[in-house]
This record gives sequence, C-alpha cells and structure tokens, in this order.
Amino acid sequence: MWQIFTFDEVDSTNAVAKRFALEGRGECAVAAARQTAGRGRLLRNWESPRGEGLWFSLLLRPENMPAAQAGGAVFVSALAMAEALAPFGEALVKWPNDLVMGGKKLCGMLAEAGFANGLCGWIVLGIGVNLLQTSFPDVLPHATSLLLQTGKRLAPEELLPRFLTCFEPWYARWQREGLSPILEGIRPLSATLGRRVRIEGREGKALDFREDGALLWRVEGKTEAVLAGDVSVRGLYGYV
Ligand code: BTN
Repeated sequence: MWQIFTFDEVDSTNAVAKRFALEGRGECAVAAARQTAGRGRLLRNWESPRGEGLWFSLLLRPENMPAAQAGGAVFVSALAMAEALAPFGEALVKWPNDLVMGGKKLCGMLAEAGFANGLCGWIVLGIGVNLLQTSFPDVLPHATSLLLQTGKRLAPEELLPRFLTCFEPWYARWQREGLSPILEGIRPLSATLGRRVRIEGREGKALDFREDGALLWRVEGKTEAVLAGDVSVRGLYGYV
C-alpha cells in the first residue's frame, strides 16, 4: 500500500519528494493540486494549473539496484500510466518517457536519482498528466489533455490510485527480472518504433529498444543506439 502525501500547492512535487529522500523517508507518492514551479525535462517548466492534471512524484527505493539501471524507472511508469489510462483512451509511449494521445503530449516524466557505492539509493520519478485543460498557451503547441482528446473528465484523485495499482506489479517485476519484460509491454504501445525521427539534427528510422532501454535507430546507413538521456526525439512530420 503506497503512502500518499497530498498538498494543495507546492513549488514542485519532485522537489518535495527529493527532500523526503534526503531525509531518509521510505517509498511514497507526493501529489499536489497545483505546482508553482513545476519542472520539465531539459530544464523546461511544466505548466501545472490547479486541479487540471495529475501532478505527482514517486519516491522509490529499489533494493540493491546498480546505479546504471535506475533510468529504467521511467519505462516502468510510462507502461503503468498507459495501462491506467487505457479505459479512457489510447495513450502511446513516445520514447523515452512521454505519453501521447492523438499525436500530442499528454504526460511527461522527470526522473532524478541519488547513488551511493555504485547502487541506487533513491529515485524520484515526477509525472505530470494533463487531464482537464480545455486549451494550452500558444507556446505549448504540442500539448493536449485527456478531456481535449476524448471528451472524458477524469479527476486527478481518481487517476493516482489507478496508476499505483498498475505500477506496483510492473515495479516488482522490474526489480526481479530487469527491463526486458517492461520493454516487451511497451513495444506494442510505442509511438516511436518504426517511425522516421529526428534526433539532435539527424534524421533516421527508429528500429527497436536495446535491453537497457536505449533506442536503436538507423541513421546514415548505420544502426546506432541513443541513451535515454537529455535528447529530444521528434517525428519528421510533427511531435511524434
Ligand atoms: C517533461 O518535460 O516531459 C517532464 C515533465 C514532468 C512534470 C512532472 S509534474 C510532477 C513532477 N513535479 C515536477 O516539477 N515535474 C514533474
């Protein structure tokens, strides 16, 4: 059973969860109705208007996990969130860690971790899901919400327990068996595989995931691996 801390307003649930991690707290979820300084990947902001989405972070403490494997957490949560949303609409996984619906971004994830002696001490996995917005600022042309895509109103407080129910078994499996079963689950839900993509100015075709979650792509006549780090992957004809 996950302990859930809910706040009306915080700067960033990732910042709160990270503080909890450094204070030595155990695994938990931290959610807020609104974030005043929500953070995205690549040093971007994350718009988090009150009650319009699910803004939360998980504090994870996987047991005896080598530091190099901690990045797999985003795949586990992407798969679990796609499953949690499935009764409402088909969310696809845009490698490495976005969920898209109708070709636009519905959900983003931001992972931070602390390591000691080559092992992962903690992971903070921040997840933002746009649920009830009816419009987005012009600067976010690729963003969408579940309401805009499906006409359905799913409350953040309903989605969080659904997500945790889906997350729990995949999280246990990841710790037991590694990333392979997770990637197997994601392949049929991938918005990236088989598509032409642009990565850091080069164009190619996304082929498959490597065992460690890297994206294998065909570019300039060679197959290369891209690590799920700070890269932006774009489709040639749109966001996906
Ligand atoms: C991305 O850029 O795609 C990642 C977005 C992550 C947003 C979530 S909202 C909850 C958590 N707290 C934050 O400050 N960021 C993450």
